[in-house]
Amino acid sequence: MDGDLRAHLVHYFEEHHKLVEAAALQLLLTDHQPLVVSRELVERAPGGTPFVTREMVEALLASRRRARAAGPAPPRSGELERTAPRHAAPFELLVQGFSGPPVATQPIAAYQVLFRSRFQGLARLLRGRPQLPNLRPIQELHVSEGQASVIAMVREVRETPQRHHLILTLDDETGAIEVLVPKDSPGSRLQFLPDEVVGLHLQFSKEPHRLPRVAAVERPDVPVSRPLGRAPTPRRAIFLSDLHLGSRSFLSESWAGLVEFLQGKGPFAELAASIDHVVIAGDLVDGIGVYPRQERDLAISDVVEQYAELGRRLHELPERLTVVAVPGNHDAVCPAEPQPPLSSALVKDLPPNVRVLGNPSTFALDGVVIEAYHGRSFDDLIPALPGASYARPTEVMRRMLQMRHLAPIYGDRTPLAPLPRDGMVIDPAPDILVTGHAHTYGVDRYRDVLLLNASTWQAETEYQRMRNISPVPARAAVVDLSNLGLVTLDFTGGAPRIEPVGA
Ligand SMILES: [Fe+2]
Repeated sequence: MDGDLRAHLVHYFEEHHKLVEAAALQLLLTDHQPLVVSRELVERAPGGTPFVTREMVEALLASRRRARAAGPAPPRSGELERTAPRHAAPFELLVQGFSGPPVATQPIAAYQVLFRSRFQGLARLLRGRPQLPNLRPIQELHVSEGQASVIAMVREVRETPQRHHLILTLDDETGAIEVLVPKDSPGSRLQFLPDEVVGLHLQFSKEPHRLPRVAAVERPDVPVSRPLGRAPTPRRAIFLSDLHLGSRSFLSESWAGLVEFLQGKGPFAELAASIDHVVIAGDLVDGIGVYPRQERDLAISDVVEQYAELGRRLHELPERLTVVAVPGNHDAVCPAEPQPPLSSALVKDLPPNVRVLGNPSTFALDGVVIEAYHGRSFDDLIPALPGASYARPTEVMRRMLQMRHLAPIYGDRTPLAPLPRDGMVIDPAPDILVTGHAHTYGVDRYRDVLLLNASTWQAETEYQRMRNISPVPARAAVVDLSNLGLVTLDFTGGAPRIEPVGA
């Protein structure tokens, strides 16, 4: 990210409607975690100020130094210290979703903190847009003004029985309001989800009892134009997911083919030699007790042994590779999201070239920003979005980017942890969004973001057959980090075959 880091930072502040002073930028660039500090600056900026000054950067860096001197790294943002200097770091951790324990002990208070964090984090991305003129808090909306805009969280969506207009119930920090999305208006073609944050331009009727009408909808979304993270040379990363070690259905023959490929044996040795990184998007092991009568599907019924087996399998990969792994819902870690990294007791047998992060995590590989999320929220988003399917996970991922949120729906199948910061907000905008969980394989692109649903290394289980899930296993996505070009390798027969999948 070296050469482009300045442009990235300037754009990051622009996206949050902040102007950064040249001296402030200079100082940020001397820090070893400039993106993490920038994000904290945006979060802490005193209400409404459009500037990031050198004094603000100095004050924040000093407080971070004090926090470091006082003890271990503060848990608030969950980020890890980067150990190598920037110019020598092909891997750079930007932020982990997990942000330490809840600050409030009462669940209601803790969830209020979480949702305030979500609202503020996403409202920052919407504020200042010309499409949202006359922006007001809900409490200060005046019918007499004729038109105004709000940024709000969707609490409820319902349809009027006769005319099929949509009525949205919206909340912000000051109050609640109902608004009407007329049938056949542009807004009616959008699908609104509970707990997503949107910007709405409203028109008020002269008749006071009528609901305001939604004239335009703005989603936080990924900016159309932004600096793109690209590696300076054509080095590559390979993306895997859902290994499910310990399962009887683990595809050991396909895995052996993958290992041989990465060791440079066979016809694609040149491609293999250009791979520096392996990313694994969760469900590293099959776990125990994850679904009814899972024990019948297990080859290893002790979870500690499953991680030992994971260690043995990862030791088979060449040592020169950097392996980055996040947990999934089958892993032995708190299931509520964001999930913390696996405990050191479980990862003690993993080779030293493996970095185990929380789920989700944002990191850069050779300057390419990657958001890695296992994808549990597919279980809520697919039923909630008409036409969505496990067979086409990238359509759901596109929607995640539009919302800039990985798991907006609260109270359904994806447990959300009431942490002080909403770590499921997608910030910064990534170059690659990778998920797993669906046990299929999908590639797409949206506004220069590569969407990648990485394939599983587990064959179909009885439980999946029952749930009508048809896996697409043993595909590996090899991505050139200099241009995000992609090659799909199919290991279902053991030896790799190039599959014409791409985008
Ligand atoms: Fe899985």
